[in-house]
Formats: sequence, structure tokens, C-alpha cells
Amino acid sequence: TAIDKGGYRHFMAKEIAEQPAVLGDVLSHYIKGDRIVLPDGMDFSEVDRITLVACGTAYLAGYVAKYWFEKLAGLPCDLDVASEFRYREPPLSEKSWGIFVSQSGETADTLAALHYARGKVAKTVGVVNVGTSAIARDTDTALPTMAGVEVCVASSKAFTCQLAVLAVLALKAAQDRGMLDDAALARHLADLRGIPALVNQALSTADDCEKLAEWLSESADVLFLGRGPLYPVALEGALKLKELSYIHAEGYASGELKHGPIALIDQNMPVVVVAPRDELFEKTVSNMQEVMARHGQVLLVSDAAGIEEAGDGIHAPLTMPTGGGLFQPIVYAVPMQYLAYFTAVAKGTDVDQPRNLAKSVTVE
Ligand code: G6P
Repeated sequence: TAIDKGGYRHFMAKEIAEQPAVLGDVLSHYIKGDRIVLPDGMDFSEVDRITLVACGTAYLAGYVAKYWFEKLAGLPCDLDVASEFRYREPPLSEKSWGIFVSQSGETADTLAALHYARGKVAKTVGVVNVGTSAIARDTDTALPTMAGVEVCVASSKAFTCQLAVLAVLALKAAQDRGMLDDAALARHLADLRGIPALVNQALSTADDCEKLAEWLSESADVLFLGRGPLYPVALEGALKLKELSYIHAEGYASGELKHGPIALIDQNMPVVVVAPRDELFEKTVSNMQEVMARHGQVLLVSDAAGIEEAGDGIHAPLTMPTGGGLFQPIVYAVPMQYLAYFTAVAKGTDVDQPRNLAKSVTVE
């Protein structure tokens, strides 16, 4: 059947809304009951290091996965944008695996990085959406992300499906390396299986995001802050806003605020803080207070407990569902997508085909 907008105003809105369904598909492909099901040879017992390489939004999926591989599996993880990796000629351990993340599977820099790594590492793994692509063909094992055709140049459902596959890989690594007992593994698998329902709940932030976008669309710059595995989600929020609305945006690690970007803060600066109520939340609250003391306008994206704990002084809260455990970044991607989408709509830019960008960059 032909790909159409299915009643949505833009492909991006349709692709955002498809996420609960495609995430359900991909997770049930790789998780059967309490078992992780991966192709033969996907055993991490002897692996000493992971190298993740990708571009753009796929790179940010890899960035979240670095936190997961290190935290869950105790597996050291290097991460690089493909254009830097390929020319730096990094030394690679022959016991390591290279993981190449790409929606199209045709990105020239990522493909060249794969060709560089081949023969130097024990295994190359592709996390790809297009099963017939060059990266799917040239990796030892290609794992489909099963997001379906993504038309909008800016990636949404392909990103969250990449995260789902990478989460499965991190759990498999933890299991193979004996880092999780059965009960802990079952708990994480239950968290992961619960993600599509939470993403479905997160879709209901659309109305709030649409209202907040009126405000964001009048800003010249927006800062996004996050910590831990939500830091790459903040980077993704900034990337999306730049791509779609042409507003200058930067993502920063919350703790790094005081080392630079705090100098930019005044009453005209919206600061989007991506922070579920977790064990580091107190530190994030103190970062927000630093912003508010300089009259920065905080948009706090958190769960009900986080918003309550943050107290007064916040310009606007955006309430997220609770839950998801370590896999919360997948859920928090949704308001990042909607904020960028509705800001672009408010500005009247071309949402599905932003200026100067291409869906798949097959030249250097
Ligand atoms: C382009 C697209 C991005 C995408 C990046 C990597 O810049 O506009 O949306 O994230 O390429 O593409 P890939 O197909 O390798 O994931």
C-alpha cells in the first residue's frame, strides 16, 4: 500500500503516533516471555568492549545505549560520530564488537566506519531500519529495528525503535556476562515490555507541547538539560528543535551548566530540563534554581513527583507518566519530538522536509 499521511497533517505527526505500535512489534520480536531472542552468535561473554558508531539522531540512540551497556552489563563502551571515527583510525580490540546504528543503512560515513572496523573487531552488528541496505548487508549480524517506512526527514519512530533494540542488546550483554540474576533480568524485561504503553501515555503530552510551542517559537535560543541516560535525550531535543524550527538550540549535561552555558541565561532563555524523579533529581533541582536565579524560564519535563518536588518558580511543567526504569529515555523522547514538531508548525516551517537536510546522506 502507498505510504500516506493517514489523516495526519504531516508525516512526522503520524510517525510519532505510530510509536506505541512499532515499539510493541520490535520488542515482541526480540523478547519472548522471559527470553531474549537474538540471532545465533550474539553472545557477549567474550566481548571486552563495544564501539558504537552512527550519525545524527542514530548517534544519540547510541549515546543512550552507552549508559545502558555500561550500567547494566559493566561493558566499557566507546561512542563516536562516524565522520570522526573513520579518519581518526582508532585502535580496536580484536575481542570487541562494533555496533553501527542507522535508519537508512546507507549513510556514507557510517558505512565507511563499518568498513574500517571490519576485520579489526570480533563482530560487526548493524541496528538498521532498512533491511536491504548496505549496512544491513555488510555487517556480520544485522538487527532490524522494524519501525516501518519513515518519511519525515527528522527521525522519530526509527529513533525509539533503535533504542528498543539497543536496550535488548544491553540486557543480553548483562545476562551473558553474569551481571544480572534472574529476578533482576525479569524486572528489567518487564520495564522494557511496559515501554509501549508508557509511550502511548506520553502521546497525550501533545496538547501541552502545542501550547508551549507558541512560547518556544518566539525564542532565538533554547537550552536543553539532562543527566545520565536523559542527557542524550536532551541532546536529541535540541537537535530536533534546530532541524525542524531553525531555532538555535543546545543540549547540555545538567552538571556542566556552570561551566559555560549559564553565561547565556537571562529572562529570554527557555531552558528545557528533562528530568524524571530519580536518585539524582535533587542535583537537577539545584541546577534549575541556578537557572531561575538568573531569570531563565524553566520548562520541566518530569513525572508528577518530580514536578511537585521542584516546587515554585518553574515557568511551565510538562507531566510525564511514571515508570520505565532504566528505559525511560524512550518515553521522554516523545515530548522532545512534539515540542520540536509544534514549534515548527507554529513557525510555519516545512516540517517533513526541513531546508538543507536530507533523509539519507549518501555522500560525505
Ligand atoms: C540525516 C537525517 C537524520 C539521521 C541521520 C543519520 O542527517 O536527516 O534524521 O539521523 O542522517 O541517518 P541514518 O539513516 O544513518 O540513521
